[in-house]
Amino acid sequence: MYAETEVFTIGAVAVPNSLPAPWLLGAHAGFLEESAVRHTRIIVTHYGGPDVLQVIEDELPEPNHGEVRVRVLTAGVSLPDVMAREGVHPETPPAPFTPGWDLVGVADRLGDGVSGIELGQTVAAMPIHGAYAEYVCLPQRELVPVPPGLDAAEAVCLILNYVTAYQMMTRSGSVRGSRRVLIHGASGGVGTALLQLGRLAGFEMYGTCSARGASAVSDLGGIPIDYRDRDFVKEIHRLTGDGVDAVFDPIGGAHLWQSRKALRPGGKVVGYGLITSLRGEGLTSGRPGRRNRFRGAAIFAMYIAGGWLLPGRKRVIPYSIQTLKRLKPELFRQDLIALLNLLREQKIKPLIAQRLPLIEARQAQELLAKGGVIGKVVLVCNGSSPASRPS
Ligand SMILES: NC(=O)c1ccc[n+]([C@@H]2O[C@H](COP(=O)([O-])OP(=O)(O)OC[C@H]3O[C@@H](n4cnc5c(N)ncnc54)[C@H](OP(=O)(O)O)[C@@H]3O)[C@@H](O)[C@H]2O)c1
Repeated sequence: MYAETEVFTIGAVAVPNSLPAPWLLGAHAGFLEESAVRHTRIIVTHYGGPDVLQVIEDELPEPNHGEVRVRVLTAGVSLPDVMAREGVHPETPPAPFTPGWDLVGVADRLGDGVSGIELGQTVAAMPIHGAYAEYVCLPQRELVPVPPGLDAAEAVCLILNYVTAYQMMTRSGSVRGSRRVLIHGASGGVGTALLQLGRLAGFEMYGTCSARGASAVSDLGGIPIDYRDRDFVKEIHRLTGDGVDAVFDPIGGAHLWQSRKALRPGGKVVGYGLITSLRGEGLTSGRPGRRNRFRGAAIFAMYIAGGWLLPGRKRVIPYSIQTLKRLKPELFRQDLIALLNLLREQKIKPLIAQRLPLIEARQAQELLAKGGVIGKVVLVCNGSSPASRPS
């Protein structure tokens, strides 16, 4: 695993205030109050396919006590966003809502009682929903300072995908001591993060992907296995002899048991997703759906329990970034800061599949749900609404 010094001794990041743009200074002085300025955000009107995503113009939100209004620079696009749109993710809010798990932006207006954060400071946050917007108000405690000089699109990749990968490797305790790992969905957002962090940790890595992703997986130090034309369990045993120490499985369902068969005795499957709930039943077809947040979770629990009962000293362990963050918010903050430092030191380099303007959120989600995306799709706020333009 990681040398302790490499990942845990990263101290507080000093974040000098970047100079606010003139219009930001104007906003602070009440400049924007004179006209009711508006901003663009995306909403999910009801649960269903990509056509339920709509671009709307809305009044600029005002921060409440303890909140900061953030001008969003970039928002990540992830399968959990797509699953929330379909109503099948455990974190799906009631519709209508603005999707978007993670964002990087600039502190633009401070609510009463906020201190220790400066206007113009770059911050990262994982609000779980709400990031597909030009402006969002968030509690100050949710904001993590971003060191200056980083690309906002690269930085946003760290919040959901890299923290997930990092915590599965270091925090859950489940894969400590592992040396040989299998990463499913290895060319996707979380998969490429696992490969980059796994390489830093010195893992021997195997990664399932479709043929398109094979070269990306090799470039990141993994041995690709095409899941569409190979039985990965047989392939792992052929390549390794006795199997792997850990499998990272975002597919879920019966796939967790297949993953278990790829383990050595004493090994662990970390189950962290339910891609099956999206791809198995045509949920991306565009038909209106209902909010059904716990359907997948119940099946998931069944497989985890089964994994404990079966003989063979092989376990299936769940991981959830939002659960750990709720239980121990300081770990999320520490880990994101550690990762931002690794990015600053150029030890990691997120793969960005595409940068699309915010108003193309629908195309971005269609792209991701269709498959074949290498790395992460990022929405970029281009400042098209009046409030985003410098005066
Ligand atoms: N538990 C947590 O805290 C947590 C946090 C973040 C994400 N997640 C979960 O992680 C999963 C991945 O999210 P993401 O945003 O990284 O998605 P993504 O970028 O679309 O990556 C998913 C990858 O899985 C691959 N894939 C699909 N079916 C597969 C199969 N049967 N075998 C092997 N690979 C397969 C896809 O490859 P092709 O497109 O080439 O088919 C794609 O590269 C989602 O289920 C999400 O909910 C969980």
